Amino acid sequence: MRSQRIAALCAAAIAAATWPMHAAPQTPAAAARIKIDLDRTIGTVDPLVFGNFAEHLGRMIYGGLYDERSPLSDANGYRKDVMDAVRDLGVSILRWPGGNFASGYHWMDGIGPKDQRPVRAELAWNDLEPNRFGTDEFLRYCELMKIEPYVTVNLGLGTVDEARYWVEYTNEKRHTYWADQRRKNGHDAPYTVKYWALGNEIDGPWQLGHKSADEYAKAALETAKAMRLVDPSIKLVASGSSNYGANADWIGWNRTVLQTLRNTIDYIALHTYVGNRENDLERFLGVSQQNVERYIGVTSSLIREVQAGPNPRPIYIAYDEWNVWYRARNAEHLEEIYNFEDALAMGMFFNAFFRHADVVRMANLAQMVNVIAPIMTNEKGLFLQTIYFPIVEYGRQRGNTSLDVWVSSPTYKMENRPQPAPYLDVSSTYDPGTHTVSVNVLNRSKDKDFATEIEVQDATLENSYSTWTLNHPDLKATHTFGDDRKVRPTLGRGALGGSPYVQNTLRYTFPAHSLTILKLGIR
Ligand code: AHR
Repeated sequence: MRSQRIAALCAAAIAAATWPMHAAPQTPAAAARIKIDLDRTIGTVDPLVFGNFAEHLGRMIYGGLYDERSPLSDANGYRKDVMDAVRDLGVSILRWPGGNFASGYHWMDGIGPKDQRPVRAELAWNDLEPNRFGTDEFLRYCELMKIEPYVTVNLGLGTVDEARYWVEYTNEKRHTYWADQRRKNGHDAPYTVKYWALGNEIDGPWQLGHKSADEYAKAALETAKAMRLVDPSIKLVASGSSNYGANADWIGWNRTVLQTLRNTIDYIALHTYVGNRENDLERFLGVSQQNVERYIGVTSSLIREVQAGPNPRPIYIAYDEWNVWYRARNAEHLEEIYNFEDALAMGMFFNAFFRHADVVRMANLAQMVNVIAPIMTNEKGLFLQTIYFPIVEYGRQRGNTSLDVWVSSPTYKMENRPQPAPYLDVSSTYDPGTHTVSVNVLNRSKDKDFATEIEVQDATLENSYSTWTLNHPDLKATHTFGDDRKVRPTLGRGALGGSPYVQNTLRYTFPAHSLTILKLGIR
């Protein structure tokens, strides 16, 4: 008994004596870990992922991009302040003229002397189309802005002839009827439009000229054939499903389209709009990400399925409509006012696109000005919405190599969802030119910060790194005219530091509900 007491006292004394040796100040264990390996590459972040979309809808074109009567416009009618904001946004490719509008649009109405162009009833959005902005106005805008044009042909109520004559008007070098019309309208050289969409959302019952998958695939095949006979170099985008409703078979649609068009198309289009209808940030960002991942994952598998035979044609995904959209409907002409949490959703989309950089080779934010847009105008000027800033920053990673990162993050459950979501949503890219790794981290938690250990394997990091952070105490903060500086990124610098200094590891705490882009230099 006595010897037991002595042993216990000795143990206590030893513990007391040795304790200070282990009590060197320690950083608490990281809640999350990110491992990056420069050899684990996914693909190049295609510059076309930073595309946009301009539809004849509400004030997107008339009163947005184009205003012939405005003192803010140039001699062509293009709003100069909008051009500056579009340039800074870094738009690589612009989809036009729709959208739903495309399925009732007859392009021949929009060429030649403006005063002789017909005013038409516009059925997709219940409006009047004055046709003062047409093919030449669009393509000249793209030339001026050094943006790649991307034209959607009318596979709703249009014909094969209309589609092939459109390619002839824009791309034909020889003296044909339509090429000479282009010359007469002031553009001698072909515009050489490379990207063409074979219709828009033709699976949607709301679409003019809505078709079954078989009907659409057959129409698209014949239209593509005629367009390619005019110009074999064009790239074609098939209309994938946009209808994820309970009674719609979106997977069946995509399979039929891919099977029929597998030797013809270069891309299949996907569309997704998300919204925080339940006023629950974590669910909004988590569910949206799971959906986008599923649409990309399933469609990639369908592409692989049709490519299983000999001489497969490369086919990619063009995510040619994506954004937050759930508040402003037709009556408000889709003039959605974005808040801070919508800006976080930009990170959700881009992280997903980057993680699938091998297959997502084009993406177009819907849309560019006034209509579900980052830029809002009135007759006196414009303001930048909250979503503008992450788009600009992610755009700086175009051409980088996307990396397959390993992430261990605490997770959360979402009602009616079998899979929990990690709080941290991460993508990463590497720029071999500047030897810089970008780490893009969306912290979806409403109220939790996460201390995170970021390790770049087999690399030596520069001691200092830079940070770009978008955060705001008010999730619902919005911008308006004269007040668009609230939700803006903050820039910072940090040092790896630490004792001992570990040359490939960084500790960083991602604040609750924030989007962070870290730039780490590799020595
Ligand atoms: O971008 C607004 C509309 O959303 C487009 O016209 C249509 O393609 C989609 O349903």
